[in-house]
Amino acid sequence: MNILFIGDIVGSVGREMVRSHLPLLTSRYQIDLVVANGENAAHGKGITRRIYHQLIGYGIDVMTMGNHTFAKSDLYNFIDEADRMVRPMNMAPTEYGRSVLVREVKGKRVAVVNLCGEIFMHDITDSPFRCMEEALKHIDADIVLVDLHAEATSEKIAFAYAFAGRISAVVGTHTHVQTADERIVNGTAAISDLGMCGAYTSVLGRDVDEIVTRFMTDAKTRYTIAEGPGIFCGAVVRIDDETNRAYSIERIQIRPQGE
Ligand code: FE2
Repeated sequence: MNILFIGDIVGSVGREMVRSHLPLLTSRYQIDLVVANGENAAHGKGITRRIYHQLIGYGIDVMTMGNHTFAKSDLYNFIDEADRMVRPMNMAPTEYGRSVLVREVKGKRVAVVNLCGEIFMHDITDSPFRCMEEALKHIDADIVLVDLHAEATSEKIAFAYAFAGRISAVVGTHTHVQTADERIVNGTAAISDLGMCGAYTSVLGRDVDEIVTRFMTDAKTRYTIAEGPGIFCGAVVRIDDETNRAYSIERIQIRPQGE
């Protein structure tokens, strides 16, 4: 089974990168399941019903979220019926939506779990490690995939070792910068961060001048999403159909021409 994970989709540039690249990637890598992080899809923070359906229409099978899950109030209107969305298990408020989603893919039950890291995060209800231990007692699936939405590479690497051999993949999201530490640990594919889909000339998808001004002057600034040519980041994980163990992980990074 081949799974494409897509990093944080930031604003309209990020959405356009998904629309324009997903069909070709899906056929080139013979992808069976597409999992993407959508927590920045609506102007960099949160998601709306319209954008959720737009991204699903582009070919995303499961959408994971993060610390900006509840940034747009529109989410409360549709999260309980959004049957392709998982939100972090350990982030308040926990009473909306679902944090484990099981889909049938090629005759297998594939569970997608979304968790947030504890370091530099707010509203975390429990350690992602403890939550995952507890969740594994109840998840009924052949293959378990985790999006660990977290800031610190140490936390994400430690998580990979903690659950190596018990889950098929853990991919990091949130920093918007792709790391080059992809590895297979005892049948578990891991990467600290997938990177983002968004404007290439930007600071994590946001307008460069605005962020530089903010650092120079401490001034309060608007939340302006950068425009211009985009970057697409993700990874393809291949899982053995007999053993359900991952045997390869390959980073995907498509930059604008000439960059
Ligand atoms: Fe985030």
